[in-house]
Amino acid sequence: MGLQGKTILITGASAGIGRACAMQLAAQGAHIIALGRRQDALDALAAALPAGQVRTLAGDLNDEAFIGQIEALAPTLDAFVNNAGVLRYAPILDLTPEDSAWMFQTNVLAALRVTQVIARAMVQKKRGHIVFMSSIAAREVYRLASVYSATKHALSALARSFRIELQSQGIKVTEVAPGMVDTDIRAASTHPDVLASVANRKFKALTADEVAQAVVYALSAEPNCCPDLIELRPQGSA
Ligand SMILES: NC(=O)c1ccc[n+]([C@@H]2O[C@H](COP(=O)([O-])OP(=O)(O)OC[C@H]3O[C@@H](n4cnc5c(N)ncnc54)[C@H](OP(=O)(O)O)[C@@H]3O)[C@@H](O)[C@H]2O)c1
Repeated sequence: MGLQGKTILITGASAGIGRACAMQLAAQGAHIIALGRRQDALDALAAALPAGQVRTLAGDLNDEAFIGQIEALAPTLDAFVNNAGVLRYAPILDLTPEDSAWMFQTNVLAALRVTQVIARAMVQKKRGHIVFMSSIAAREVYRLASVYSATKHALSALARSFRIELQSQGIKVTEVAPGMVDTDIRAASTHPDVLASVANRKFKALTADEVAQAVVYALSAEPNCCPDLIELRPQGSA
């Protein structure tokens, strides 16, 4: 679809990949509804875009009242970028129950819940496009990334389930699966083994803008073309 005048809701738009998606989709003429927990970061995004092109909504995706606010906006949406996520790398024996619950709650259960409320409105209109931000870790498993990988495997399964069940109702579903991107998402991973592993990597991470380009491509595809899965690897990382 041409993106001019389309309304696109993005979760996790206060930082990193989601913020880059907001900037690039806005540059294509889309109206952005930008979500995140930090209102100050959302305000900074809004200040970087032309007045009136972005609306911000701050809240926690694990809060049912916030899901209700998103549900109220759902009938206005042409597309949804399901991007918010969290990560804590650590040796598998060191992950706490709280670490695992935090990642599954946000990356899988909240992502499912918010997609359900938005997809129901899209089904009513018989059109819409949902982009899931999974990861290369949705198909591969890496040392120190056990539970995060498990959440992204689950998210990928949900993306494919939404596509299978809703494609006959005019809904497109795209999974974008990046490798390592240089955002702040790894700030919660402070285990020495993780820090050493990151310091020793032999390739340059992707940029958030490079991932956002894939989202723009997917959402701009011709009506009969659904990019199902876009994997992005830093050159030399395979
Ligand atoms: N960076 C990578 O290497 C990489 C690679 C592959 C896939 N991904 C995926 O890409 C997505 C974006 O990651 P990123 O690297 O851009 O991370 P990031 O810079 O840390 O941004 C994460 C975003 O998610 C939001 N968020 C987190 N928990 C939330 C919650 N409970 N409720 C509402 N919003 C919440 C954050 O908002 P606030 O901070 O304002 O709460 C922030 O806007 C994630 O799904 C991640 O798994 C990242």
